[in-house]
Amino acid sequence: MNIAVFVSGNGTNLQAIIDAVLGGKIKAKIRLVVSDNEDAYALTRARDANIETFVLSPKGFSSREDYDKEIIKELEKKDIGLIVLAGFMRLVSDLFIKKYKNKILNVHPALLPSFKGMHGIKDAFLYGVKKTGVTVHFVDEKLDHGPIILQEAVEVEENETLETLEAKIHKIEHRLYPEAIRLFTEGKLKIENRKVKIKEA
Ligand code: GAR
Repeated sequence: MNIAVFVSGNGTNLQAIIDAVLGGKIKAKIRLVVSDNEDAYALTRARDANIETFVLSPKGFSSREDYDKEIIKELEKKDIGLIVLAGFMRLVSDLFIKKYKNKILNVHPALLPSFKGMHGIKDAFLYGVKKTGVTVHFVDEKLDHGPIILQEAVEVEENETLETLEAKIHKIEHRLYPEAIRLFTEGKLKIENRKVKIKEA
């Protein structure tokens, strides 16, 4: 299966996925890394791993659909079977979601449906929750809403700082996301009434 990973920033999740492919845990190929930000450090990580990149600035596009159509053209050339959003800080259009229905994954740094949006870790920390965590889910038309594949909780300790919490969350993401991708690429995920069944042998 060919995978495209969408990034906007540092790309630590991309790195974890690259490492899982290189280590043989994920038996699929990352054919393309897509970014809306030419300065994303994630692009350096992709190039260092000899993965093709496609950078498209949203500037100059009058609609989300037009932007996504350009990306779809690239994905079709590469016969992409799975889209992995890894810190891609842009909403994808309904057109895109329909085209790749149940083939788009996202990682979110909180326990959905709590603390949706761009600042999941900070929002949970400032709210004062005792537990937060990581969610990997299918992407549907609503923000941070699709069927949940994997979730893992983490304690917010008495002396926790935002920085220590971020480090704990990222560590979980880097393990959980490759695992969800492995399950998808091995055909082990089945969605039934919003619930994701995991069929391990
Ligand atoms: C990750 O923590 C990811 O969960 C988050 O962006 C970060 C990207 O880091 N995504 C969201 O908040 C999406 N709503 P990375 O570029 O180092 O992988």
